[in-house]
Amino acid sequence: MTTEHVLSTVRVEEDAQYEAGLRPRALDDYIGQDRVRENLTVAITATRKRDEALDHVLLYGPPGLGKTTLAHVIGNELGVPVRSTAGPVLEKPGDLAAILTNLQVREVLFIDEIHRMSPAIEEILYPAMEDYELDIMIGQGPSARSVKVPLQHFTLIGATTRAGLLTSPLRARFGIVHRLDFYTERDLVEIVTRSARILGVPIDAAATGEVARRSRGTPRVANRLLRRVRDYAEVRADGAITVEVAGRALELLEVDEQGFDEADRRLLHAIIDKFGGGPVGLNSLAAAISEEKDAIEDIYEPYLIQAGFLDRTPRGRVATARAYDYFGLPGPERHPRLL
Ligand SMILES: Nc1ncnc2c1ncn2[C@@H]1O[C@H](COP(=O)(O)OP(=O)(O)OP(=O)(O)O)[C@@H](O)[C@H]1O
Ligand SMILES: [Mg+2]
Repeated sequence: MTTEHVLSTVRVEEDAQYEAGLRPRALDDYIGQDRVRENLTVAITATRKRDEALDHVLLYGPPGLGKTTLAHVIGNELGVPVRSTAGPVLEKPGDLAAILTNLQVREVLFIDEIHRMSPAIEEILYPAMEDYELDIMIGQGPSARSVKVPLQHFTLIGATTRAGLLTSPLRARFGIVHRLDFYTERDLVEIVTRSARILGVPIDAAATGEVARRSRGTPRVANRLLRRVRDYAEVRADGAITVEVAGRALELLEVDEQGFDEADRRLLHAIIDKFGGGPVGLNSLAAAISEEKDAIEDIYEPYLIQAGFLDRTPRGRVATARAYDYFGLPGPERHPRLL
């Protein structure tokens, strides 16, 4: 992994290897997202009491915030297996029909990237979610008829980074919808502490805070920074992560105090330098920094907006006064700096 990617919220091969071991399994170990957790606790406890399947759940939010983790936690709390698939993997309606007919009562079907299902597949889901049945067409032409096949009462958990791309009929069929937010520094401190304990890494409180602060509100990034800082501590120090060691490691990785990396800086700088601070449309911005539009919308923007460096207006993206400050630049005319 290059330094450019150390802060990427997107999962890479190396993360996959570690994530399994670091994933919380029970709701009690799932750190942060308190409102979501409390709502799910209530819903799960109630359905367990009634001995019913949990209502369908839609989880959305930026990459690395714990959607997949939470889907498995829900399965564990319900005491049922979770069958996993993903929108782009489901190619033919028959693929999904086969999965659905194999589900046992109250089992969980997890569909990742649910916004990337084809319309033909989506149509199968409608009656499956609503009435627990499949509508299958048999034959063709005038003799074609539709047959209804009953399904077990199951729970669909869908995850997406882009709730806005879900069709409204699909979205309407989820009884429980939750957006995952970026984590607070306190939650990230807890996550780093827990991960360090599991990995057996000695790290002091100040260093834990430093890693947490620079993780762009994202557990996946926190865990990855912890691994990189551990490498540094093992090679350039005596293995223990002190705040001094963490600081040096993070500097070497070019992760700054804000948790920005080169890509964030390039994006902000382009808006200020090439587009007079904005507003600039997504297409122009993507072209200017040679990044995919999707990557800008899914990965870079959410955190820059939440951190207050970028605004999204109807006319395009705008760099905030804070972004100008960050580069040590005076704000643009139309954003006179207060004070
Ligand atoms: N609430 C949490 N508490 C502790 N660790 C967490 C939590 N949420 C996520 N993690 C850690 O972060 C890693 C990434 O989470 P996960 O894979 O669930 O994210 P995701 O939202 O599904 O991302 P993507 O959109 O890329 O699929 C997990 O392996 C886990 O170790
Ligand atoms: Mg996921």
